[in-house]
Amino acid sequence: MNGFERAALPLKAIRALRDRGPSYAWHKAMRRSFGRWPSIKRRLLYADPRTYWTLRGGDEYFREQEGQPARSARAHWMAERIAAYAPTSILEIGCGYGKQLRALRARVSCPLVGLDFSDSQLQLAASYLGDVADFRLVKGSGDCLPFPDRSFDLVLTSAVILHNPPPVAERIREEILRVGCRWAAHNEDLDTTYNRYGYDTAAWYVARGYSLAEKGPIPVDPAGPPSQFSVAQLCRS
Ligand SMILES: C[S@@+](CC[C@H](N)C(=O)[O-])C[C@H]1O[C@@H](n2cnc3c(N)ncnc32)[C@H](O)[C@@H]1O
Repeated sequence: MNGFERAALPLKAIRALRDRGPSYAWHKAMRRSFGRWPSIKRRLLYADPRTYWTLRGGDEYFREQEGQPARSARAHWMAERIAAYAPTSILEIGCGYGKQLRALRARVSCPLVGLDFSDSQLQLAASYLGDVADFRLVKGSGDCLPFPDRSFDLVLTSAVILHNPPPVAERIREEILRVGCRWAAHNEDLDTTYNRYGYDTAAWYVARGYSLAEKGPIPVDPAGPPSQFSVAQLCRS
């Protein structure tokens, strides 16, 4: 951080307080603190992922993400890969503000549903996807999906399971097996931080006897966290 950025910090804090209230300002300050103590930071800031993502979502997060060309390249690369499986319907669990849904809609014509548990992310998704045809947003939690068995041909998560502690992550994967028909596609990073648990999702499917249609790093974002893109064949008759 340079001197100018340091001087601008109190201003930013005042603006955060004014625009989104004390919980958001506290949250933002904590996110910038305790960098060297990820376990303390996790306890302070990430005890409840839904609260975290409700405070984290919003215009500032949107600008941060959209300001990173590598993120866009990754979304487009994944949408290409997913379209290659010719899915007849897609559920994205943890759709955030809809970046992946937008990239997908440019490549597939099947029904698209995005689910997220964060109001702030869903509100932004509704406006960001305002000019996108034919999609549905649902508020819900990945570990208890409000859909009947085998509702979607392909279920996608992109940087979502990794944000949940092991028992919840396990329930999300089980829910994917329940609501999915043919394919489960995942971009889940492998590293651990204060808000990332890092799971080998591909290995989870293999250990349960499912075969992988593909698995590997995402080549367009080599500087990002160690990523894994995998597609498992759910293969039920
Ligand atoms: C890093 S963002 C990724 C958003 C989007 N998938 C993308 O690639 O742009 C993680 C999103 O997953 C959501 N999320 C995390 N855990 C979830 C859960 N258990 N149920 C529903 N949404 C969840 C968060 O609210 C957040 O919007």
